[in-house]
Amino acid sequence: MPSSSLSDRGARAAATPLRIDYDAFREAEADLFHPTTNPSGKIPLNIAENRLSWPELKSRIEAIAAGEEIADWVPGYTSTRGAPAFREALASFFSQHLAGEPMDPQRFVVSAGATGVIEMTALVLAEAGDVAVIPAPCYPVYERDIANVAGMERYDLVTRSAEGGLADATDFTIPDLEAARSEIESAGKRFRMLILTTPNNPTGGILGVDQLEAVADWCVARKIHLVVNEIYGLSLIDTRHPAIASEYVEHRVFTSFAGMIADRDCDYLHLWYALSKDLGISGFRVGMAYSHNEDFLTGYANLNLTHSVSNHTQWLLSHLLADADFMTGYVSRNKDRLTEAYVFVAGALRSMGVSYVPSRGSLFAWINLSEFLEDDSEEGELALWRDLFDTTGVLLTPGVGFGHACHGLFRVVYPCVSHEALAEAMRRLAGFVRGRRAR
Ligand SMILES: Cc1ncc(COP(=O)(O)O)c(C=O)c1O
Repeated sequence: MPSSSLSDRGARAAATPLRIDYDAFREAEADLFHPTTNPSGKIPLNIAENRLSWPELKSRIEAIAAGEEIADWVPGYTSTRGAPAFREALASFFSQHLAGEPMDPQRFVVSAGATGVIEMTALVLAEAGDVAVIPAPCYPVYERDIANVAGMERYDLVTRSAEGGLADATDFTIPDLEAARSEIESAGKRFRMLILTTPNNPTGGILGVDQLEAVADWCVARKIHLVVNEIYGLSLIDTRHPAIASEYVEHRVFTSFAGMIADRDCDYLHLWYALSKDLGISGFRVGMAYSHNEDFLTGYANLNLTHSVSNHTQWLLSHLLADADFMTGYVSRNKDRLTEAYVFVAGALRSMGVSYVPSRGSLFAWINLSEFLEDDSEEGELALWRDLFDTTGVLLTPGVGFGHACHGLFRVVYPCVSHEALAEAMRRLAGFVRGRRAR
């Protein structure tokens, strides 16, 4: 522990990096690839950001900031549920683009990014020591977000196919949930929350409607909170694109959980969303929870001041979201850009002979490089990850921490760089793969 001047909690935090790939990311940022000025520079493909649509969004945001008079509610305190004007705009945006049915602005609470929302939700719904079950592989930072303040524990639901290799984290069944429940209860703990992410980070899998319905009913009957994270809900791939259509065994359309929450109108079903990914504005720090549980919303709001979003940001974004014509065009163009980038990466991976999970959404390709592991272990995976970065300058996210059972799987974030950088990264990855296979 670094310093006795801190609490035990503070000392643990000081000794634990935010994420395993952060130092390497800083290294990459200091020597970034540029096609003409730094062609041998590094290409970080590890941070979940979408930069493809920023130029378009930037112009719109600049126009709002320059053209609109700042509302008089902006400099003062506002509702800790989120500014009413923002929740109105958010509810109609969410209704139109995700839910397909009216959403009540009073049932939204707004916090600083999905991270703030996850932390707050765990705090309000769970006791310390309660367990959150999450199908694997999953977003690794859930672990911290539910533990830091609320003291919840993470349980990785590893499904049968995930034990064997690539899986999209959607193939879990009710018997899998039952088995997890018995195991957790046998250990004297409480299965308090099930967290589902659709589209999934890192696999891009989306949950089928029948499956979601069945899982919701199972959770409600057992008084287990089900939270569905739709942070990638508009970051969808056109799986009917001719270059990739044959990869999907079954056609699946993303369906928001919002309608199922409305149909059941009960205290145990909730939804998370954020503007970080679908709008590519993670730095604006805007996330939200939606629920029909009034006590949850009230308790959340009473604790939410530490996680509030700046009124100026809420004001700016309420103008953006309320511009229905612009947002409709944006959502569709963003999907086209994402699909184009994904099709490119999928084609490159296929020609390298590297297997991956066919993605239906999110910002990722989840790929299998396990054939290159010198040691089939966590250390072996990290050694391969570092070796790939050192030899090619391409930085991926290692699979460590995603909670699945095998080694050698990596996450590629493809919309976070220009097409030129992505093409160069794929060229270098192909060289690495060829070189390793020739050894
Ligand atoms: C599934 C998931 N949830 C939450 C977050 C955190 O989002 P935010 O930046 O809005 O806190 C991420 C970021 O990558 C994510 O992938």
